[in-house]
Amino acid sequence: MALYRRVSGSVALITLQNPPVNALSAAVRQGIVDTVQRALSDPEVKSVVVCGQNGKFCGGADIKEFGGPMSGPPLVPMIHTLESGHKPVVAAIEGIAFGGGLELALGCHYRIAHSKARLGLPEVTLGLLPAAGGTQRLPRLIGVPAALDLITTGRHVTATEALKLGIVDQVTDHNTVEVAVKFAQSVAGQSVEAHRLSTRPCPSPPDLDALFEGAMQKVRQSARGAIAPVACVQAVRAAATLPYPQGMERERELMATLFSSGQARALQYCFFAQRAVGKWSLPSGARWDMSEARPVRKAAVIGLGTMGRGITVALAQTGVSVVAVETQERQLAEAKQAVSGMLERGAQRRGAAPPPGLVHYSSNLQAAAEADLVIEAVFEDMALKENVFQQLSAVCKPGTLLCTNTSGLDVDRLASHTRNPQLVVGMHFFAPAHVMKLLEVVCGPRSSPEAVATAMHLGKKMGKVSVAVGNCPGFVGNRMLKPYLEQASFLLEEGATPELVDQALEEFGMAMGLFRMSDLSGLDVGWRVRKEAGQTGPNVPPGQPERMRQGRRYSPLADFICERGRFGQKTGRGWYQYDKPGARVARSDPWLHSFLEEYRAQRGLVARRIDHQEVLERCFYALINEGFRILDEGVAAGPEDIDAIYVFGYGWPRHRGGPMFYAGMVGLAVVLERLEHYHQAHPDVPYLEPCSLLRKLVAAGSPPIQKWREVIKRLRSQL
Ligand code: NAI
Repeated sequence: MALYRRVSGSVALITLQNPPVNALSAAVRQGIVDTVQRALSDPEVKSVVVCGQNGKFCGGADIKEFGGPMSGPPLVPMIHTLESGHKPVVAAIEGIAFGGGLELALGCHYRIAHSKARLGLPEVTLGLLPAAGGTQRLPRLIGVPAALDLITTGRHVTATEALKLGIVDQVTDHNTVEVAVKFAQSVAGQSVEAHRLSTRPCPSPPDLDALFEGAMQKVRQSARGAIAPVACVQAVRAAATLPYPQGMERERELMATLFSSGQARALQYCFFAQRAVGKWSLPSGARWDMSEARPVRKAAVIGLGTMGRGITVALAQTGVSVVAVETQERQLAEAKQAVSGMLERGAQRRGAAPPPGLVHYSSNLQAAAEADLVIEAVFEDMALKENVFQQLSAVCKPGTLLCTNTSGLDVDRLASHTRNPQLVVGMHFFAPAHVMKLLEVVCGPRSSPEAVATAMHLGKKMGKVSVAVGNCPGFVGNRMLKPYLEQASFLLEEGATPELVDQALEEFGMAMGLFRMSDLSGLDVGWRVRKEAGQTGPNVPPGQPERMRQGRRYSPLADFICERGRFGQKTGRGWYQYDKPGARVARSDPWLHSFLEEYRAQRGLVARRIDHQEVLERCFYALINEGFRILDEGVAAGPEDIDAIYVFGYGWPRHRGGPMFYAGMVGLAVVLERLEHYHQAHPDVPYLEPCSLLRKLVAAGSPPIQKWREVIKRLRSQL
């Protein structure tokens, strides 16, 4: 809807009304068309102001209408009518002007923004482009380079930056609508000719070809196979090289291609998935999201290694006061320096002073006594963690929430060492913890809804995508990683190289290939876990065949390279070689290639040609299969939760939706058939045996991903 009022005698004030962000739904568009017509035809009206109710100009298109049949007046002619009218139109931008909202403002002749407003064209993040003239008007207003930056990244700008760039004419600290009305009065009767962006020539720098070539290269590099940023560059190029009507036609064509692409669907799914995650009921049946979160003013972090430092920084940046405890003196001294460095750099990036005096250090666990919440991040060693939890339970005030950052150990076993097991949950951060967006909140069978709600809310406050998951080895993310890693190792035995596997995964769009990622996180960590589990080294039961463990195929390759001191980047050697320990650029290592050849030769394995398709199918379908098992067991609430975990924590490309969404795109029947095929070829690899939920979903006609929760619920109730 849009409200029409006459103010100050001669100004028509049009107010968009569609809470919460005045999105341009069919009703709002109809409202704008009607009110603009009324304003243009009313002889008493000399100028027009467009604003949004509740201090928000407009959040853009109504994403809920995407995919459905188009109803109501289209945006492009609506904005055109506004722009081509003879009465000056002023956009009064408060709060936000995003996407179609900013395009609407660009159709106005003047723009006045409140100093706290933010503006942007985020369509690219949904796999689209600003198709209501945004790609054609913005370059005409602010020039090609600045428009390319905003349109291809979808980044938001503050009102101050918008003024600097020339997007808005004025920024005010006062009541924006009042300022805009006064301004509208002052320009009443003046010609708007020069303020119609569509009739302006696009400022064209002399080296246009080089500029677009550079822009194209840049987006191709960072887009990892996403097509929308490329289309955005093409649309802006049309603005710079074609007359406006043809440019608009090009914008429309490009948008049509994007709209029908699977990528836009995947990105829009991600948008909703990110908002839907975490609606998880506890094993007791209670729902945590009905529970009130407790305030966390003071936290303690135990263990200041890689993770503890990042978690301390993330907490302090949220304004929580932190007691950071580390028993090793040298580690403590190093951590102090590292944490203050990270806080300073973070503050510099945000242009604010580092949070003063929020972090205190101690070498004594007693210092955690007054904390509302403790996050333990000591070594991944069950006995050590049990001991720490026992001590914390004795030291902390009653009611303190005790959380563990374990990557996969049993949260309930830790809870059993405390006085209040209902106050124990997992808070599984990802490295680097102050940067990575994902937080898995692990609910043990005894965790109370209140404890889970507190961890979930704290995560949200820290800017994380918090996903509630169940308690099982590796939880969701790391549990699914296991079959993925296993397949990659088998592929090496069968003839692949780390380079081939990584290239296939990176071309698919993964942020980093699996072997490069393993080198980065350190191969020794998993090796230690395997040794402790008796899978490798002296603990392996005598008589165990080298490449079998309890009747399952096992690849000792990673163990062998660890035995040679190759732990990855930290030692300068791993699956790749590095210039020096700690260096980041991975280079092919001829030593590793001959090692693989020798390994195969000694075991009578004949290398065969492995193509990218097999790499993707074996690695991803094994991972997806485990995802279905997780859904079947109720360890994750729905496929959206798994997908959010993979997109925000494991470098899965957003434009591919997440592994479960990808399975739906490929077709569940296809995934099932390929798993059956590979399982037949490798009967000693249980991870390749299609899980029963996948079979049932295929039998149910492969319903769309949005229906999986329902089907799973139905299947469960039939048990
Ligand atoms: P780390 O080895 O870098 O740091 C552990 C720190 O804990 C060391 O500084 C050690 O001196 C300290 N510590 C040991 N016992 C202690 C005690 N009783 N009191 C206080 N401090 C003590 O280990 P990292 O990588 O930070 O891992 C910590 C935890 O986070 C582990 O459970 C790990 O599985 C988990 N994790 C690690 C991730 C990673 O990428 N490194 C990602 C997610 C979770």
